[in-house]
Amino acid sequence: MTPAIEFIDVVKSFPDKDGGRQVVLDHVDFTIPQSKTTVIAGRSGQGKSVTLKLVLGLMRADSGTILVDGEDVTRIRGRKLEKLRTKFGVLFQGAALFDSLSVFENVALPLRERTVKREVEIREQVMTTLKQLELDGHEDKFPAQLSGGMRKRVGLARALQLGPEILLFDEPTTGLDPVMTNDIYHLFSRTQAQLGYSSVIVSHDIPKVFNLADQVIILNKGKMDVFKNPEEIQWAEKPHIKEFVRTTMGEIYQSHLVEK
Ligand SMILES: Nc1ncnc2c1ncn2[C@@H]1O[C@H](COP(=O)(O)OP(=O)(O)OP(=O)(O)O)[C@@H](O)[C@H]1O
Ligand SMILES: [Mg+2]
Repeated sequence: MTPAIEFIDVVKSFPDKDGGRQVVLDHVDFTIPQSKTTVIAGRSGQGKSVTLKLVLGLMRADSGTILVDGEDVTRIRGRKLEKLRTKFGVLFQGAALFDSLSVFENVALPLRERTVKREVEIREQVMTTLKQLELDGHEDKFPAQLSGGMRKRVGLARALQLGPEILLFDEPTTGLDPVMTNDIYHLFSRTQAQLGYSSVIVSHDIPKVFNLADQVIILNKGKMDVFKNPEEIQWAEKPHIKEFVRTTMGEIYQSHLVEK
């Protein structure tokens, strides 16, 4: 099966203040399998958000190949890139809702902008999603009237409207309490099981987020370590992974697998 996303020998750097280059991704290779959940972890400033932007073609790699469903994002522009982006649902940090639009209108927005659906169809689809995410009854509220967790769910509802093949979540639980964080992750598991999309989650909620990960990528100093199973991380020999395990999971990491 073609991977959902594939990075081959990708380099991404930015100019640094000394006239040199800060290398963020240093000849990186990895694949994101279809219909699975990949978690990208790593310390702040290691290039997690940059990786997602490269996938969407919002940023260009210096060199290398980035395939989405087998198509090279680094080589396409304009309308073709726009079309490729319709495969994605994106939930960036803060959920980025429109404050002047109601919950209903926020969720309906992609349908109004990208489809020719009639009003009755839009209403039916949006209300169905809101119900799935336990937001029915709140459709006329505005973002300022919602709790943090509700806002995230509205963001997720919006990201799902165009039936994405791939969902990208950048720190979807920032600012939420531990219970809400768990709820959001359960929700991700459930919606993914229902809808079968491939998902990439950037998260600091270690080890909590590992419960839903099929694969974990740890980004450190321009390099990526790919673990086909989150359990493997605790047995890794590399010093920086050991350090990562020690600081984020405690000396002895005991997995608390939850039912998906
Ligand atoms: N547009 C840009 N121009 C210059 N440097 C950038 C740009 N975008 C990101 N960087 C740099 O690339 C590095 C990686 O940034 P990125 O936002 O991907 O980090 P991150 O891993 O997502 O961190 P965090 O966990 O804090 O969100 C940082 O050093 C950042 O300053
Ligand atoms: Mg980031």
